[in-house]
Amino acid sequence: MTTPRHRNRQASRRLVAAVGGLAAAAIAVSLAVPAQAAGSTLQAAAAETGRYFGTAMAGHYFNNSGTLNITNREFNMITAENEMKMDATEPSQNNFNYSSGDQIVNWALQNGKRVRGHALAWHSQQPGWMQNQSGTTLRNSMLNHVTKVAQHYKGKIYAWDVVNEAFADGSSGARRDSNLQRTGNDWIEAAFRAARSADPGAKLCYNDYNTDNWSHAKTQAVYNMVKDFKSRGVPIDCVGFQAHFNSGNPVPSNYHTTLGNFAALGVDVQITELDIEGSGSSQADQFKGVVQACLSVARCTGITVWGVKDSDSWRSSGTPLLFDGSGNKKQAYTSVLNQLNAGGTPVEGGGTTNPTQNPTQNPTQNPTQNPTTNPTTPPPTGGGSCSVTYSEGQKWSDRFNGNVTVRANGNISSWTTTVQLQYPQLISAVWGGQASWPAQRTMVVQGGSLANGQSTTFGFTVNHGGNWTWPSISCSAS
Ligand code: G3I
Repeated sequence: MTTPRHRNRQASRRLVAAVGGLAAAAIAVSLAVPAQAAGSTLQAAAAETGRYFGTAMAGHYFNNSGTLNITNREFNMITAENEMKMDATEPSQNNFNYSSGDQIVNWALQNGKRVRGHALAWHSQQPGWMQNQSGTTLRNSMLNHVTKVAQHYKGKIYAWDVVNEAFADGSSGARRDSNLQRTGNDWIEAAFRAARSADPGAKLCYNDYNTDNWSHAKTQAVYNMVKDFKSRGVPIDCVGFQAHFNSGNPVPSNYHTTLGNFAALGVDVQITELDIEGSGSSQADQFKGVVQACLSVARCTGITVWGVKDSDSWRSSGTPLLFDGSGNKKQAYTSVLNQLNAGGTPVEGGGTTNPTQNPTQNPTQNPTQNPTTNPTTPPPTGGGSCSVTYSEGQKWSDRFNGNVTVRANGNISSWTTTVQLQYPQLISAVWGGQASWPAQRTMVVQGGSLANGQSTTFGFTVNHGGNWTWPSISCSAS
């Protein structure tokens, strides 16, 4: 993916290459490109990773200029919180009302944002007339609703939650009982096919909650449905993970495994309704964990929080969002922003369990030069008091990610690492560190003080040009 940062880097590399010619003429040249620009808003920081950062937005946001300003400044993907649901858009049968939904969609598009449509078919928030239907009548009403609403918004929607929350909680792994489910087990795929016909340009997603922990039966059940859909050509492009967390349902440590395994089925994954009840550093750490999990999976294309201010939340007493009731940035906000700017620590493939090969994530040519264990580069002979460990990150057919951990041996006030590439490799992205380029295939990354035993990490992407050799890395400290 090409991000503004990538383009800057490419321009910088061309400049460095030109200067390299002068260096050959015995002129000592040291050129530092500008330090990596950190995104100062959530949308800017996420864009640097090739992802979006979104929020749910309700009609009442238009009555509060403060909330509207934050929404415009921080977010570039918009989900209508209630205004595009079945009860809002078809209050009486075949009488469609798009006024509230249109207000949000038009505002988003006019302000350069994309829209996530929520939701075409759901057991909840059905209009009264639909709640009273069953069988073929209900099936046809549902399909008509999907078709008409998707046609109305055709060309304006990045991704639709075609079906929402169709699986039961608990250990059964079964479908949720609902009037829609009782029309026949194929109601979900029928909805997806209708949505594809109505708006072929929109990504079509299945969206649910309590599907974050890979070991949970509900997660497995949704995974198996998506796998089945992909194998039978049912048009599904993405899976949304609502991500409503609290102390009884914390962010699972295997979240990246879940996201990676779904992505490995050949779908995009998105965090669609993120909120985490709590406060202070524990809340901030959990938000950070969600961002890390998404950043670790190439096909996790974005994160949406379920509202802007705590006071706007559907569970406001749990203060689960990134801005307090006055619109001030919370610790959780800073944690998310910093993690987006630091980038992720990509993990290999999909995860540890039940991985399905995905050609876009796992290149078929397995480079023989790549050892399977992580070598440790000893401290440089220059006698510095830091050491570096290189670990392999995600690999694609044309590029690979690498992660470097710098560890202090004794207290140090600064550290400098030199990353040496081999021809024809080029670095296309750096995260978590400030880089300069004294020569075309030499990158210097520097950082500040570390206490004895403390470590810090940065990462980069190498366009390998056919040479999979790991870069050599040295470290010096003062
Ligand atoms: O607007 C009416 C108001 O006129 C009326 O006086 C009041 C009386 O109860 O109700 C108001 O409507 C409420 C609406 O939110 C707007 O505030 C509904 O009662 C209330 O049920 C509705 O709740 C929404 C909920 O979905 C319904 O299931 C929440 O705002 C919305 O955040 C929530 O969002 C869901 C996602 O769609 C799916 N995933 C879970 C998520 C959280 O529950």
